[in-house]
Parts: sequence; structure tokens; C-alpha cells
Amino acid sequence: MADPKYNRVLLKISGEALAGEMGFGIDLQTLNKIAEEVVETAALGVQMGIVIGGGNIFRGVAASTKGMDRASSDYMGMLATCINCLAMQDAIEKLGGETRVQTAIEMAEIAEPYIRRKAVRHLEKNRIVIFGAGTGNPYFTTDTAASLRAMEIDAEIIMKATKVDGVYDKDPMQYEDAVKYDQLSFIEVLNKQLKVMDSTAISLCMENDLPILTFNLNKEGNIKKAILGEKVGTIIKGEDS
Ligand code: GTP
Repeated sequence: MADPKYNRVLLKISGEALAGEMGFGIDLQTLNKIAEEVVETAALGVQMGIVIGGGNIFRGVAASTKGMDRASSDYMGMLATCINCLAMQDAIEKLGGETRVQTAIEMAEIAEPYIRRKAVRHLEKNRIVIFGAGTGNPYFTTDTAASLRAMEIDAEIIMKATKVDGVYDKDPMQYEDAVKYDQLSFIEVLNKQLKVMDSTAISLCMENDLPILTFNLNKEGNIKKAILGEKVGTIIKGEDS
């Protein structure tokens, strides 16, 4: 069996990724495909934490620009992430993977509350830990939640699954001549205002020297390839690391 490059990773999946072609909600076929890749990757012996966004169900920021109270709309977004977590838990477990869902906002009847040391124990027992409800605070994105959880569980890298192959100098959906970067430093991402993650999330990673790999989730087998250290996506790390 191939040797994984990482022992413990945090996989960030956007809520939209679960919507597939539908553009909203959860497309079960898409969900199952992602779950299959997760299970296959975890079977390599990699300890995996997962943070999922909620944008396929509710976009807190978008609602607040239309007049909704920002804190309330963000809380709704956090609840949306929990729906995605339960869907992912179900899909992974149907495929034989073992999971635990932990939420940053307590809803003990539905899932375990987030307890860092318990999350780490679950990982050590090769359970896939799915973190819900973002950071539990409004005004923070699920990318920031992913950075925070990655640091708390001592992940070696954040694997940010997106719709594109990596980070480009301009929007590859709009410009044919957009050039993909293989590697970037945190400072370059911040200075060039490249849309990798929001600046809070990037700053957290930079301050704690936590690399981010962004790669295309729509290409089958990419999660596994990334874990095996094959060349996919764009890696963002400190200048000296
Ligand atoms: P070990 O410490 O390794 O035994 O972990 P474990 O998660 O198997 O033990 P535990 O007895 O804590 O959990 C058994 C099941 O109950 C697991 O599926 C947990 O996710 C679930 N569980 C544990 N705590 C809570 C909780 O506060 N709320 C909910 N809804 N489920 C919980």
C-alpha cells in the first residue's frame, strides 16, 4: 500500500460542493462520491478531521447584505453546517467508515459537543471527526473554523477542496490565460489578495505555520492523490518552510 505523506489532516469542504449540479441543498450522489473518497483515503491510515461549510443551505453573509442581522444570519449558517455534517456522517458510515460529529454549538441530542481532547482521541482511534457549527461564533467563516480546528488537533496540513485546480493569478473561470501557481507563501496570498481563504483564516495559518493545499474536489481521486503527496493543486506555506 502506498505511504501517505501526512498522518493527520484537516479536510475543508465547501457546502456548495455537496450540492453538485443542483446548486443548492444536498445531492446524495455527489455526497456519496465525496464520502467514498474520504473513506478510501482514511483507509490509508490517515487521521482525518473534516470541516464542511453551509452555503448550500444558507449563506449568512449574503442574507446580512440583504438586511438580516449579521449575527442571526451567521447562526443560521452554523446550523446549516450541522445538517451537512450529519449527511456526511451518514454517507461515510454507510460505506463502513467510523465517524464522530462534534459541534461548536451544543446540541447534545444530535451530536457530541466539541471537546478538543476527545476529538484527538477519536482521531487516534482512526475515527473521522466531522466538526460542525463553524467556530460557534458569528463573524467567523468556516475557513477560519477549519484553520482553528486544524491547529487544535495538530493537523499537518489543511486540505481545502474547491471547484478549481488550485490558485490562479486571475479567475480561471473568466480568463483563459489564467496561470496556476504550484506554490505560494502566505504573504504572497495576502499581498496579492488571492482568494484562497479569508484573511483571518490565512493569518491564523501564517502565524502558526500551518500549510494549506487547495485542490479540485471535482476531479476523482484528488483527495487520495493529495494525501499521497502527488502533485495536485497549489500549496501555500511559510517562506522558510
Ligand atoms: P470512546 O471514548 O473511545 O469509547 O469513544 P466513543 O465515542 O465510542 O464513546 P462514547 O460512549 O462517548 O460515545 C458513544 C456514541 O455516543 C458515539 O457515537 C458518540 O458520537 C455518541 N455520543 C457521545 N457523546 C455524545 C453527546 O454528547 N451527544 C450525542 N448526541 N452523542 C454523543
